[in-house]
Amino acid sequence: PIIMTQSKFTHKDSLRYPYEERGMQFGDGIYEVIRIYQGNYYLFDEHIERLFRSADAIKLTLPYDQSELRNLLLQLIKRNNMNKDGKLYLQVTRGSAPRDHIFPEGVLPNIYAYIQDQPRNLETLEHGVSAITHRDIRWENCYIKSLNLLPNVMAKQEANEKNSYEAILHRNGIVTECSSSNVYMVKDGSIYTHPATNQILHGCVRMAIERFADELGIPFVEDAFSVEDIHLADELFLSSSTSEVTPIISVDRVQIKDGKPGSITKQIQEAYEVDAN
Ligand code: PDD
Repeated sequence: PIIMTQSKFTHKDSLRYPYEERGMQFGDGIYEVIRIYQGNYYLFDEHIERLFRSADAIKLTLPYDQSELRNLLLQLIKRNNMNKDGKLYLQVTRGSAPRDHIFPEGVLPNIYAYIQDQPRNLETLEHGVSAITHRDIRWENCYIKSLNLLPNVMAKQEANEKNSYEAILHRNGIVTECSSSNVYMVKDGSIYTHPATNQILHGCVRMAIERFADELGIPFVEDAFSVEDIHLADELFLSSSTSEVTPIISVDRVQIKDGKPGSITKQIQEAYEVDAN
């Protein structure tokens, strides 16, 4: 496999980082995960724009503009002869320099990007998944797609140990998002989700879902719901670039309604299907 590093292309095994790398020592960096369908990036511009917003937010200057980055990532697809379903992982850190919390001067960011096959999970898309609830103990700038994922990792691991797919995070009982996806509740024909504040990552699939709901005439309400609301929900679903639109059929081992994916969730899934193809 060929990866992109800085603005060059190289075999994945030739990537070497010095031990003093700010992404590793401080989590001082940002990333993106972009879905690929049959060799094409999905929601490409949304992801590129978000990467630049994250970079701005941490005062990191990328060595190229948005269109140069888009070109590099398109070349990466070509050089790997990628024509299947997959994903791109792209990471940017503040670079390598002697360890010091203060930003180094005159140091270029370290950048690398690779693509991998990722078949769609048709089983979970059709039948749904279970989730747990978990306190959201993250920092106050969750809109930045930062490399600091320890709270997310701990929450997702706990979900996994409880045979669940995701952890639904809440602050003082208010649901924010999941450990690596956004979350939505359907109630009386409307879709509810946490507003796009600094408490959640502004998901690219979330943006698409807002558009689908609009087209379908389903009210998309950016009002947070609570952990208590979950068990009164008609439907629940989550979204991310890798999980797409996945129904949640039980939370903390309690079934949502009849334990089957709901009809509004299915309408959103169908709209996604059309949009992604
Ligand atoms: N995660 N919220 C969090 C905390 C996330 O990490 C993600 C994505 C999302 C959904 O964002 P999007 O729709 O743009 O993929 C929401 C990626 C897939 C990951 O870390 O692997």
